[in-house]
Amino acid sequence: MSNNIQSVRGMNDCLPDVSDTWQGFEAIVRDWLRRYGYREIRTPILEHTGLFKRAIGEVTDIVEKEMYTFVDELNGESLTLRPEGTASSVRAVIQHNLLYDGGKRLWYTGPMFRHERPQKGRYRQFHQVGVEALGFVGPDVDAELIVMCADLWKELGIAPALQLNTLGDHAARLRHREKLIAYYASHQDVLDEDARRRLHSNPLRILDSKNPAMQALNDAAPKLMDELEDEALTHFDAVQALLRANDIAFEINPRLVRGLDYYNRTVFEWVTDQLGAQGTVCAGGRYDGLVEQLGGKPAPAAGFAMGIERLLALVEAGGRRIATPAPDAYIVHAGDLAQAFAWQVAGSLRSAGLAAVLHCGGGSFKSQMKKADASHARYAVIIGDDEAAAQQVTLKPLREAGEQTRVEVARAIQFIQEASTQKA
Ligand code: HAM
Repeated sequence: MSNNIQSVRGMNDCLPDVSDTWQGFEAIVRDWLRRYGYREIRTPILEHTGLFKRAIGEVTDIVEKEMYTFVDELNGESLTLRPEGTASSVRAVIQHNLLYDGGKRLWYTGPMFRHERPQKGRYRQFHQVGVEALGFVGPDVDAELIVMCADLWKELGIAPALQLNTLGDHAARLRHREKLIAYYASHQDVLDEDARRRLHSNPLRILDSKNPAMQALNDAAPKLMDELEDEALTHFDAVQALLRANDIAFEINPRLVRGLDYYNRTVFEWVTDQLGAQGTVCAGGRYDGLVEQLGGKPAPAAGFAMGIERLLALVEAGGRRIATPAPDAYIVHAGDLAQAFAWQVAGSLRSAGLAAVLHCGGGSFKSQMKKADASHARYAVIIGDDEAAAQQVTLKPLREAGEQTRVEVARAIQFIQEASTQKA
């Protein structure tokens, strides 16, 4: 065993080959969000612990056992690395009064932190792209959020399945909670230890139990569906109608409850069976009470977040590669005169918007050409003292057949640019 310092368990480096894919993904995502009129919000990675306790819920798994919380020794404040982005977004919206002139469509991306047991698709630092639409009441926004996801899946060449449910409104959930407590309390003998612990704090989570001995009891438990008010049902019907009108297939899953407390009405998850146990690639729903709960003027809201690691794993499982940006040119040079000219040529290429890697570290032409090839550049721009004296370069295509040609720098730039537009 080496005693070198390693990264923290469950927190991964993103090396250049992987970063290229992430950048390709991020470019697709930014453009997709722009087309839907969403604007980016960037919030701090650290927040006051109380924010997450209030927003996500004191008796959720995230708050009870997954948060990275510590006391700032300089002032005694309890701070937490954000486990998700909705709470911070709502905090920022309230703090800066962003809803003063109507609804806002926001998005964010970045690392989130949860102290879970790491496994494939589940990390302690993971990354989300999140979308929050604040200030919109109607079912149309719920449907828009789902339709836009479907649009992105098409672009990424993946096809996760949509599961949908409604949690109704607060009063219905309270009634359901009381009924669940009464029901489970009258079956104390069947409850396992977890269920007993949750009976009064979070009886809804008992329904999630994986314990086969609890299955029959759970199947017969009071259903939230039976408590829902007409208004919530009408809202849910309208969401479904909009999805059908947009050709979005879905399955209603009455067991879909989500692990964060702020949701009401529509909740959804995009799931796949191609990633093993961690099959939810994107999840969200409506959270109409949260803005008020965190101290703002009441405002409806809905959103979702997708896990970037899981989504990219799904893209890869489908055999698709997101285009990775390779340099346009790798500049190979030998000789003092050539080196000085190579710097100038690199500058000209970059000013023209091309990505040019200038060979550093010397070496023979042959070894430099090997590096050029390994860089995946489309062209080698070769400069010897001859070329330098004539203020020309030799252009050699590396990715496709073609003769090498000696040309003026301006012509070389034009040539590479034309070749890339043809390719696009
Ligand atoms: P969430 O279901 O906790 O919701 O997380 C959303 C997504 O983040 C998951 O579906 C999954 O793809 C990814 N994810 C969660 N935990 C991990 C992990 N440990 N490792 C890798 N990926 C993970 C939320 O976070 C809500 N804020 C979503 C939302 C936004 N609802 C309304 N607006």
